[in-house]
Amino acid sequence: MISKTMEQALNKQVNREFYSAYLYLAMSAYFETANMKGFASWMRVQAKEEQSHAMKMYDFILARGGRPVLLDIEAPKTKWSSAGKVFEEVYAHEQKVTAMIHGLVDLAMKEKDHATFEMLQWFVKEQVEEEEHASAILAQVMCVGDVPGHLFYLDHNLGKRE
Ligand SMILES: [Fe+2]
Ligand SMILES: [Fe+2]
Repeated sequence: MISKTMEQALNKQVNREFYSAYLYLAMSAYFETANMKGFASWMRVQAKEEQSHAMKMYDFILARGGRPVLLDIEAPKTKWSSAGKVFEEVYAHEQKVTAMIHGLVDLAMKEKDHATFEMLQWFVKEQVEEEEHASAILAQVMCVGDVPGHLFYLDHNLGKRE
């Protein structure tokens, strides 16, 4: 059985994962309207992944005899000035999420909640990848030049993500 404190903290994280999905879907919509279909498709896949993160935690709460509580999802912004600005935000956002996950690990340790600690290790590893991907794409955008005409090849490549 999960403690109330841990349950509340995980429910908050479920909400932040859904917010991440919202944010990436908003970025996808932005790229669609900027006619950058590959970037849009990459973001759509990313949004789906974030939903699966939320559901992974949701299912864990249930498995530990807790109750998932769905909170309001904050509305993300709708406009960015360039692909580079989008990926700067992705990278910053993922760093924030990493800090949240580490905070949850600290709490699990404090509560001696081994099951939650073990579940969270998946997220710790996932965040290493998330930050790595975000910073790599940001570096590529900056390297080719953060203007739509230069990003055609990168757009094509990102569109291959499934
Ligand atoms: Fe996530
Ligand atoms: Fe993420």
